Amino acid sequence: MRALWVLSIAAFAQDGAALYRQSCAVAYCHGADGTAGRAPALAGIALSPLRLAGVIRSGIPDKGMPKFEGTLNEDAIYAITQYIKSLPAVAGPSTAAVARRPLTAPEKEGRAVFFDATRMGSCGACHEADDWGSPVVKIETVPADPAALRAFRSTRIKTYKSGSESFPGLAVSDGVVYDLSSPLPVRRRLKATSTPAEWRHDLSRYSDTELSAALRFLRAVQK
Ligand code: HEC
Repeated sequence: MRALWVLSIAAFAQDGAALYRQSCAVAYCHGADGTAGRAPALAGIALSPLRLAGVIRSGIPDKGMPKFEGTLNEDAIYAITQYIKSLPAVAGPSTAAVARRPLTAPEKEGRAVFFDATRMGSCGACHEADDWGSPVVKIETVPADPAALRAFRSTRIKTYKSGSESFPGLAVSDGVVYDLSSPLPVRRRLKATSTPAEWRHDLSRYSDTELSAALRFLRAVQK
């Protein structure tokens, strides 16, 4: 039974690969094999297949992610989510097999908060930890408590202006910026001017208990 299930998922992932190349990895959108194109990298993205399917169906208005409802049927959308989920996360030093101690129950609670798929724009949408999530913004230090995290101001984020548009962004390289105004950071290549800005997390949807748990998890997985 299980073997059959695994086989059918693998078959779906294979169809998904073809569909992905046609629909998602075109020209300037998500890169081949789930790496970042103009849009965010999808390999290892911290969205459950269900959430991912939702984004594919409805798109992200204003951010250039088109909606595929009506263009792709439910089987195709399912196949694409299975394919994306089957991709290995973008390799980085932390993806090397490291023998780690298993997480304790409270640390696992923190992991669940960090990657909570029911929140659009959970921590894992911007940060990678424990080999999961999206490595857009590297976490250098883990603050002592929720208050310190809420008070944290990043000076690496600047305000970018392009035409009449203005958004907080993180420069990746010359002319390439992650737009942090959407719940999933969007990689954009654009001509823009930037001015210094102080950026803070929007953590209003998180309680102190949840943030404590997330920080506990981060402390456990940062070597
Ligand atoms: C929209 C993207 C985004 C989301 C979502 C996000 N962060 Fe961040 N985070 C950032 C950016 C940008 C920085 C600043 C990086 C820098 O300045 O080097 C940062 C920095 C941090 C730091 C380092 C702070 C320090 O003192 O150096 C921690 C810890 C952190 N985030 C934890 C979290 C947690 C926990 C969540 C979820 C509750 C979260 N982040 C959600 C973008 C995000």
